[in-house]
Parts: sequence; structure tokens; C-alpha cells
Amino acid sequence: SQIPALDVVLFGATGDLVMRKLVPALYHLHQDGVLSPDVRIIGVARSALTRDGFRERMHSQASAFLGSAYDEATWQTFAERIDYRSADATQPDSFKGLAELIGKSARPCVYYLSTAPQLFTPTCRNLADAGLITPESRVILEKPLGTDLASNKAINDEVGQYFGEKQIFRIDHYLGKEPVQNLLALRFGNVLLEPLWRGQWVRDVQITVAEQLGVESRGEFYEKTGAMRDMVQNHLLQLLCITAMEPPASLEPDAVRDEKLKVLRALKPITGAAVANNTVRGQYRAGAVGGQPVKGYLEESGIAADSSMETFVAIKAEIGSWRWAGVPFYLRTGKRMQEKLAEIVINFKPIPHCIFDTCYVGRPVNRLVIQMQPDETVHLHLLAKQPGNTMRLGEVALDMDFSETFKTRQLEAYERLLMDAMLGNLTLFVRRDEQEAAWRWVEPIINAWAESGEKPKSYTAGTWGPAASSALLGRNGHAWHEEI
Ligand code: BG6
Repeated sequence: SQIPALDVVLFGATGDLVMRKLVPALYHLHQDGVLSPDVRIIGVARSALTRDGFRERMHSQASAFLGSAYDEATWQTFAERIDYRSADATQPDSFKGLAELIGKSARPCVYYLSTAPQLFTPTCRNLADAGLITPESRVILEKPLGTDLASNKAINDEVGQYFGEKQIFRIDHYLGKEPVQNLLALRFGNVLLEPLWRGQWVRDVQITVAEQLGVESRGEFYEKTGAMRDMVQNHLLQLLCITAMEPPASLEPDAVRDEKLKVLRALKPITGAAVANNTVRGQYRAGAVGGQPVKGYLEESGIAADSSMETFVAIKAEIGSWRWAGVPFYLRTGKRMQEKLAEIVINFKPIPHCIFDTCYVGRPVNRLVIQMQPDETVHLHLLAKQPGNTMRLGEVALDMDFSETFKTRQLEAYERLLMDAMLGNLTLFVRRDEQEAAWRWVEPIINAWAESGEKPKSYTAGTWGPAASSALLGRNGHAWHEEI
């Protein structure tokens, strides 16, 4: 086992994330023999559950969330690790039961705050008052960390009173996805790509995270959030950073995070009139996804009948640096889109001169497609000669299918990140200054949208978003990957 004796304390333990992601992730780590026998998992929530009651609740959901990985005998040994204490973070003294449980062990604690952010400070305060924070303690913060720069700073200031920056693990689960880390491996483990990875050879970069899901049961949350805060400020900008950053000197946490921060700081601000030209906001109306009719956003529960909240965003971003000047980075995310698709596409420049019967002068033929969802693959598109007696060229793709090649189980994002937090490795976690730089860039766009009073553009559920999204690229003579 690699993870030494410690306590993982899950606040918000009866919530969706714990059941859907965190407990399954810990189960997998247990099953793989990664956790030492002394790792304990302690759920904390307000519900007055006993240890057995909590174990039973996790057990009843386990097979649904673990699928074929579920094994009754393994679950029983895993469940031995699970304990529970009820506590109300808003009540001083409420952590007594937890303190008694943890106090005896004197092991490092990893506190996972999977609660509403307004509970972060009271939770930290109660932990401190109960003497449960030591220099070895760590805290994992789940998004949303604020709704703008000021509220983000306030949360970080508050948590910062109790934990040092090196003890704070801000999760962006997209950084835990295997293909995202593979991008680091492809870029910096090979000699081939890096010389081409710049404006001289790259025409445009497209980062898409499209979902088929709607807002589900999260209407109330989504009304205060929208796609920009929910997806762009964090996941899409982190993907952009990994794609665009300079080679770090090492994989040390700050070596990587310094380079990501430089990208965020070099993003050209989009403000005032530029907002209308460089961004598109959309909202889905009724349509069909995967052949099933679905409601429009305004008909979902918890949504105001005249809501102007966006469920789709497309942005043309630019990075002001020698490497990337003039290269558009198109970002796009949306709910109720045609497909579930998360990918990064690097379109290289067209060839300058054609000597064959067919060439595609003027449009890129070399394309690197890093797909995170639905499959984890990398395709490099090239032109090759078609068989026969002419010199006609045709597209071929060099496919890298990692599950086929390596035949080992890939870690789920939360598994990887929980493991890193337990090991104290901050490389894949977001530093405070990165998060603030990201808010600093998205905030003027959100403000300009609000000031314009314009409604988001409507798009039919089950499509690729409003027509304005294609037009955003069309103005540069470019097109989204699926339209090529
Ligand atoms: C979350 C958002 O951060 O990411 C959700 O709050 C979104 O709205 C989810 O559905 C997407 O993550 P994944 O891993 O399913 O692509």
C-alpha cells in the first residue's frame, strides 16, 4: 500500500458527491490495495445516523455507482474502514464526537469539504477549536469557490486563517482526468510536438466540453451560476492552461502551477464592446437528446420563467505571448448538446504549396485531437496517399487508444485526486493565485453580459448550440471540429 495511516474526513457525507464519486473512488483504491489497513474514512453530516446506518446507506448505493467493479466481499472489508459522526458546522461544540474519534489516533487528517461554501469557515473554525488542525492536516475544497473574484477571495482568506496554502487542495476534477495528464506526457515526454506547439505552426485551438445532461435537480444552484461560472472559470481555463503553458522545469507543484498562472495572466482581457464580438451565450429550449424529447431550460424545476441564465458559452480567447500571439483559442461548453464530448483540438496550419493531385491548401489537414469523453483517445490526423495509380491524398488518423495499449485500469479523476491529496502532492490542485487570475479574466465578461441586458441566444436541445457559435469561428474562416 502507498497511502499511510490517516483519516479521510468527508464533510457533507450524505450528499451526492460523496455517494456518487468519493466513496466509489475510495473503494477502488481499497480494492487496488493502495490504502494501508489503517486508513479510516469518516463521514460527517447533520443527519443523526449511526455508523451502521451510514455504512448501510453507502452500501445501498454502492452497486449502482460501482457497476461491474462492485464485489460484495470486497465491500465488506472496505466498509470496515467507514465510520460516521453527526455534526452541525454552524454549532460550536458540535465537533465533540468527531474529536473523540479522531483525537485518540494522532494520525494526519485529510478533510474533504464537500459542503456549501458558506459552511467552509464554520467547519474550519470548529475543527480548529476542537484542536483537530495540525501542521500535517490537509483540506480539500470542492467548487464552487465563490461566484466572483471578491467572494472567491473571501473564501480563500477565511480558509487561509486555519490552513496554510500548502495544506489547501482546491479540486478541479478535470485535472484528475487521465487524458489531461496525458497531454503533459505527450507534450513534454516527446520531442516531436513541442517545436510545432506555437503560433508559427498552430492555426487555432478548440476546447469543447459538451454535455447531454440538462441542469437535472440542480436548478436552484444553476440559476445563480450558469455555464461561465460552472465550467469556464475552472475546467475550461484549466484545460487551456495545460494546453498552452510553457514547459515547466519539473513536475513539482509550483513549477507546474507557476506556468499555468503565467498563461492565465497572459490571457487578453475581453471587456466592453469586445465581449459581444468574442463571446456567445446560449440557453437551451425544448428539443430531443439521444432520441428522447427533453424540456427547455425555462421549463426545468427551480428555474425562473424569464431566466436569462446561460447554459452554453463559446469564447474566442487569445493569449498575449510570443508563443501564442494571434492564435485563437476557442472555448465552448454547454448543457443539452448533441453529444457528450470533451476534447482539445489543435489545428495545425495548412501546407503552403501543393504538388499533388489533391491537396487541401487553405484548410488544416494536420490535427491533434485529445478526447477526454466519451472515450479517452488521442488521434493525430495526417494526409497519406490513397491506394491506386494517382497521387490522390486521403486523410488517415494515427490512433492512440490507451486502454488497448496499456491494458491497465485507468484511474477515475476523483480517485487520482484523492490519492494525491492523501500523499500530499499539490501538482494537480489549483493554487489561490491561479483561481483569482481566472476570476479576474471571466468577471468582466459576466459583467458586460449583465450590463447589456441581452438574453442568451436560444438553441434547440440536442444541437451544438446557437448558430452564433459557428459564426464566431466563421468570422475567422474557421469551423468547429464537428463541422469540418
Ligand atoms: C461539474 C459541473 O463541475 O462538472 C457540472 O458543476 C458538470 O455542471 C460536471 O456536469 C461535468 O463533469 P464531467 O466529469 O461529467 O464532464
